[in-house]
Amino acid sequence: MKEKALIQAAAEARKQAYAPYSGFKVGAALLTEDQKIYVGCNMENAAYSPSLCAERAAFAAAIGAGERAFSAIAIIAGEKDYCVPCGVCRQVMAEFCEEDFLIIAAKTEEDYRKYRLKELIPHSFCLE
Ligand code: THU
Repeated sequence: MKEKALIQAAAEARKQAYAPYSGFKVGAALLTEDQKIYVGCNMENAAYSPSLCAERAAFAAAIGAGERAFSAIAIIAGEKDYCVPCGVCRQVMAEFCEEDFLIIAAKTEEDYRKYRLKELIPHSFCLE
């Protein structure tokens, strides 16, 4: 899977974002180890705290479809910002992904930054 194709899927998902309160629309595309893509967009709420990030929406779609093995996620919030995942989304990633899980924060298909999960959440909480 090409990084550009994953970013393109995230950009497509972003079109469905429901962000009337922040105006900050986000799309995410999650790649499984067997090359399937699950997408999500952010979904806000008048009560604010029930709002959901695009990344967790993508994980919920994939987990609900029975997926458990992931290799990368692309996130896009328009051309102004590189959108790196919030702390809650990092913790969700840590639940399901290995340390070398790839996180692509994109402005466009050509302009993006890459991180590994271990860089973004080096000491995640876990029970074992
Ligand atoms: N948001 C995401 O969807 N992903 C992120 O990585 C950062 C923030 C959403 C949550 C909220 O709907 C809006 O962006 C502003 O914080």
